[in-house]
Amino acid sequence: MKIGVLSDIHIDINYIDRDEVTPAICSAVKVRSLDMMIIAGDVASDYKLVIESMEDIEKYTGIPCLYIPGNHDIWTENYPDLTSWDIYEKLKGFPRNLTKEPYMFGRDWIVIGDIGWYDFSFGDTGYSFDDFSRMKYGERVWQDSIKAVWGKSTHEMHSYFLHKLENQLKTYQNKKVIIVTHVLPISDFTVLPPDPMWEYMNAFLGSREYGELILRYPNVKYAISGHVHYRKRKHIQNTEFVCSCLGYRTEWFENDDAGTEVERALMTINIDD
Ligand SMILES: [Fe+2]
Repeated sequence: MKIGVLSDIHIDINYIDRDEVTPAICSAVKVRSLDMMIIAGDVASDYKLVIESMEDIEKYTGIPCLYIPGNHDIWTENYPDLTSWDIYEKLKGFPRNLTKEPYMFGRDWIVIGDIGWYDFSFGDTGYSFDDFSRMKYGERVWQDSIKAVWGKSTHEMHSYFLHKLENQLKTYQNKKVIIVTHVLPISDFTVLPPDPMWEYMNAFLGSREYGELILRYPNVKYAISGHVHYRKRKHIQNTEFVCSCLGYRTEWFENDDAGTEVERALMTINIDD
């Protein structure tokens, strides 16, 4: 079984005249003969567009496309009357949204996942809790501080997702697990020094607690994440950590179209089911 993994496809930000990203993903699925897709969040900050795009991938490829939201997907900028919780619930209108329920396949595989949040643990220790709580570096404001309207603190959100995932891992110890979070579970995928801004902003990329949780369960074979717009893999103990982001058009190789860049970013995992 071949599974394609991609994240941060940002079809709204990458839109020029038309959406080129969704058709590019559909054609890559066919070229690689994939049996399943996993999209690890940041599709669009418009839940209707997210659902439509995930449904299109399934319709045009005929394979399941598993999805979890990213932080952009729960932003309220386009729906000021809704909270991020409202949008999080509306995103469950897509049946293969893993925040709704895990997805089982093959004899003994299960895919679990949720957005996750951050607890500042990847930020430079030279900064204080209050520094990180401001979510501002010079003039640059971390947009979640304005657009992610949970009505809860950053740490409460992090704990909420941590406990949800922990309960699922406890439940499925007899399965081979693929876990998907939008945020990073390991510091290896954060932005490396020297970059003074990212020594601060790394605080908002994830939490080492997700990684520690994952590594306590040797039955977790793959841990997929996104958020940082990198394309990296790293094997730790029994688990392959995968981060494969498409990212913004402005970050692509010059003159590349969506098709070329999706081919570059898309990672495949081969599973003996
Ligand atoms: Fe993100």
